[in-house]
Amino acid sequence: MPYTTFTQAQVQDLIQAIDSRGYAVLPNWASPSQLQSLQALVARTVADCGNDYVALSGQQAVQGTPLHEWGTSPDFIDLCRRIVEGVTGERSSDTGITQTLRCLTGSGGRRESLIFHYDSFVLTTILPVCMPTSGERGDLLMVPNRRPIRRSYFANLLDKVRVDNRWVQRRLRSKVTKDDSPFTRIAMQPGYLYLFWGYRSLHTNMPVAEDALRATAVFHYHNVHGSSSLASRLRRSLGAWKDQGLQEDAPQM
Ligand SMILES: [Fe+2]
Repeated sequence: MPYTTFTQAQVQDLIQAIDSRGYAVLPNWASPSQLQSLQALVARTVADCGNDYVALSGQQAVQGTPLHEWGTSPDFIDLCRRIVEGVTGERSSDTGITQTLRCLTGSGGRRESLIFHYDSFVLTTILPVCMPTSGERGDLLMVPNRRPIRRSYFANLLDKVRVDNRWVQRRLRSKVTKDDSPFTRIAMQPGYLYLFWGYRSLHTNMPVAEDALRATAVFHYHNVHGSSSLASRLRRSLGAWKDQGLQEDAPQM
């Protein structure tokens, strides 16, 4: 991680870029050797899973790799906290980052694509590890800053229900297929870090060919309704909700 300390002006610039353009980029976040070791990790992980979709959640699963280093880095957590504080005006009490390594390939990778959703976390950052360079690249697609940060978990849930149903998903997919110009589409570079308001932005990833591989490390910070009692009651019965096709928070990026 080449950026150990950020000045307040740099943090403000990042916030401004996310607000105005929908996202910010920090080039060369991973060094060439870190990227190489992450690509080897992805190759092993995907091979172990029969060359199909796989996601590794949490820090434990990536121990001994740069992903674990970043997920527990006080500098990175501090950067996320300052960005979130700069935009919400409140200092988050979240002491850690929620992370996932997503590997899209095979038929499973296609099923996990083009699922539009809002995250539960204010800030979403993505580090692409492997990206197809031709054909279907699996670009990040979003409608930036489409909703405000909701005061109540219930209002947040209504937003999610409005999007997380087959009719709206189908409509959004056909809209993208016909004309993607109303969307912000980002062809991501491996090793760069992309930041956006995951909670506020409707987003997904474009599909990748079954024989191609797209792997991204996703880091989330500040769960907006993490302390809501309604949220925790619903989380306990999440299994039942999932059965009804209502996902609390899809990690798709
Ligand atoms: Fe997401």
